[in-house]
Amino acid sequence: MKIVSVIGARPQFIKAAAVSRVLRATPGLQEILIHTGQHYDENMSEIFFRQLSIPEPDYNLEVGSGTHAHQTGLMLEGVEKVLFLEKPDYVLVYGDTNSTIAGALAATKLHIPVAHVEAGLRSFNRLMPEEINRIVTDRISDLLFAPTPTAIANLKQEGLEAQTVFSGDVMYDSVSFYSKILVSGGDEYKTPGIPGSYLLATIHRAENTDNPENLKNIFSAFSRIDSPVVLPVHPRTAGLLKTLVSVPSNVIIIEPVGYLEMLRLTMHAGKVLTDSGGLQKEAYFLGRQCITMRTETEWVETLHDNWNIVTGTDPEKILNAVHTPQPTAPRRNDFGDGHSASVIAKALMKS
Ligand code: UD1
Ligand code: UDP
Repeated sequence: MKIVSVIGARPQFIKAAAVSRVLRATPGLQEILIHTGQHYDENMSEIFFRQLSIPEPDYNLEVGSGTHAHQTGLMLEGVEKVLFLEKPDYVLVYGDTNSTIAGALAATKLHIPVAHVEAGLRSFNRLMPEEINRIVTDRISDLLFAPTPTAIANLKQEGLEAQTVFSGDVMYDSVSFYSKILVSGGDEYKTPGIPGSYLLATIHRAENTDNPENLKNIFSAFSRIDSPVVLPVHPRTAGLLKTLVSVPSNVIIIEPVGYLEMLRLTMHAGKVLTDSGGLQKEAYFLGRQCITMRTETEWVETLHDNWNIVTGTDPEKILNAVHTPQPTAPRRNDFGDGHSASVIAKALMKS
């Protein structure tokens, strides 16, 4: 069986690392990897291939940045060319980026079945580009790998039950696999210049970066936190820090880091403040309280007992959450058993 996997953005490299390892160890399964080139800086792309031993992409479409239509259009054309050449049995796409929808759409128009990893996530906010990507990708996919019980329920609600398989979350696979390295050492993944006690933050969601008021509110809240805030800055946000907001003196800006450095930073953080999807879950898996600076979250399984507090960007709400005690209630096992990639490989082989 030949599978073409389409990836292109940072979180997809991390998800594909877990899945590709298992696909390539499955007898009778051949994987061809397309990198769309959506993310291309060394520390947004290459570092993950190196650190997580992701196989070299067979094709790099090098689409780069642009408006949604421009970027997605280039990807569609590029993926289609590869599919004509490779004639796979299945196309595998991940998550909710423009690379996801482009891979799914190019394949389905050629009558090639599509499998979607991380299917069924919904924010119910159609202003998010990711929500459109998810809805369309799920609708046109043939196999939907749902990471959580809520994702299963969402797909059922949309009449997509027959195509749905509960796989668990491949990001849980990755955290389970790599955090072991960090618990038993991993000093080489220590980020230089980080104080002993800090909060960890990331910001890149369009609703925050494209809205000056939201971004200013976030930094106003940070300036009132009585602790250093370490911010590995996404390139989307980096430019705005020079023009739009003045960075408070307790905020330590660093370049984006590798996955293992990021897991280490998360494990040792007092709390995590973020608008990232992946980081909300990693904080939960690693037992760090998360403050989600968005109006909603798709990862509702993380919300119990104040493990994840959704604040939006109101500084008072962010500060209240910062002052909420770290939970002691046990975390639940809603994300599978750390072997989601095996479920995915088996389901693909059976289809
Ligand atoms: C994309 C995804 C988002 C995901 C995020 C993960 C879409 C619609 N959005 O958002 O769902 O959470 O990736 O990080 O697909 N840039 C660089 N270097 C790079 C990559 C980007 O400088 O290597 C800059 C460019 O100015 C670019 C901007 O970042 O215009 C945004 O990049 P883009 O891939 O369009 O969206 P993200 O915000 O990264
Ligand atoms: N991440 C990383 N280095 C960083 C920031 C984030 O490796 O400097 C990892 C993070 O640990 C998580 C993933 O990137 O695994 C999340 O990606 P991102 O926040 O860009 O996208 P999202 O998950 O919101 O789609």
